[in-house]
Amino acid sequence: MPELQAVILAGGKGTRLRPVTTNLPKPLIPVANRPLVVHQLMHLAASGITDVTLALGYNADRFSAVEEEAARLGLNLRLIVEPEPLGTGGALRWCADEGAFDDRPLLWMNGDVVATPSVRALEAFHREREASLTFWLTSVRNVSEFGVLELGGDGRVERFLEKPAPEETDSRLVNAGILMLSPEVLRRIPKGAFHSFETALLPKMVDDREPLYGMLDGGYWLDTGRPRHFLGANRHVLEGRVEWWPAGGHTEDGLWEGAGTKREGAIVIHPAVLGDDCLIDQGAQLFGRTVLGHRSTVGAGAQLENCVLFDDVAVGEDAEIVNSIVCAGARIGRGAVLQDSIVGARAVVGDRNELRGAKLWNDVELPNGSLVVDRA
Ligand code: GTP
Repeated sequence: MPELQAVILAGGKGTRLRPVTTNLPKPLIPVANRPLVVHQLMHLAASGITDVTLALGYNADRFSAVEEEAARLGLNLRLIVEPEPLGTGGALRWCADEGAFDDRPLLWMNGDVVATPSVRALEAFHREREASLTFWLTSVRNVSEFGVLELGGDGRVERFLEKPAPEETDSRLVNAGILMLSPEVLRRIPKGAFHSFETALLPKMVDDREPLYGMLDGGYWLDTGRPRHFLGANRHVLEGRVEWWPAGGHTEDGLWEGAGTKREGAIVIHPAVLGDDCLIDQGAQLFGRTVLGHRSTVGAGAQLENCVLFDDVAVGEDAEIVNSIVCAGARIGRGAVLQDSIVGARAVVGDRNELRGAKLWNDVELPNGSLVVDRA
């Protein structure tokens, strides 16, 4: 759809998802073995958008790998790096000042949302109403962590409340981090300064009764900002609840497998995603909703369920990993137990350690048999 252009905000620090995001920007964390932002780019390309800007800051140099993928998708991808964190509004203004946008309506997506908005429907809605800004909305039961919108007839925004207490509003419609706006709105953001669009310009536009609208189409949406949501996003992709495609060949129903992976004699219950060149020993058991990153190994007798392992992870014999995230290059020793836990990049969990509800920071090493954390 050449009538539109898009920007993905991808410069945040992702503090709530540490240690996963300690060196890795949230938009680059793998969901079903593909960087989250690549799934977003695939959706934009499938929606007919060709001009996409990535607004970067934190660890911006890590994004160069995405450029190749964007070229394969036929996108004109522009990477714009802020000199310092400028907040959501400041980042948009910086991109505008760098010449990233022309006067076509601009689709703004946050780089941490799992969603496949109907871009055509949103554009039509936005144009018909001659809106200056249109939210692609979602609805959540607990609105306390979100920007909440109250709509009048025809979808017009009457009121906007950022992170309200439950008694402040009956509305459950929230800003999903997916908006369409007319680029001239960005001229009203101060130049070269920190600016949070949601807490500064947006409330003012609502107070001034500008033509702001919200559209709810009931499409899938999940914000990956917290660990349990990140695991949920992977699970939902594997279960086909959202039209994002795991990496690897779709070899059987519910199974995606990379090249060179060996799993003779192992039990692999679907859904599962296995990266390239993995080695799953005989007698290992994957009980479903499991993602193994490229070049990962799983020892005999190990048991995995509802977990995401990034690339180059080694799981020892008889280890047990449930509801957990294991970052790249980590090693889990023999007989170790991980439940509801996160193990940072290159960390080593020695044999027989047991972590429940724990986070282990990057590069930390736990000697064999040294720790039992039990938050059960
Ligand atoms: P937390 O620290 O866990 O809140 O995560 P975050 O840093 O990603 O912040 P938040 O979830 O509120 O950000 C929403 C989106 O805006 C994400 O896609 C961020 O990458 C992006 N973002 C937040 N702040 C900035 C910024 O200063 N510059 C740019 N370019 N993007 C930002």
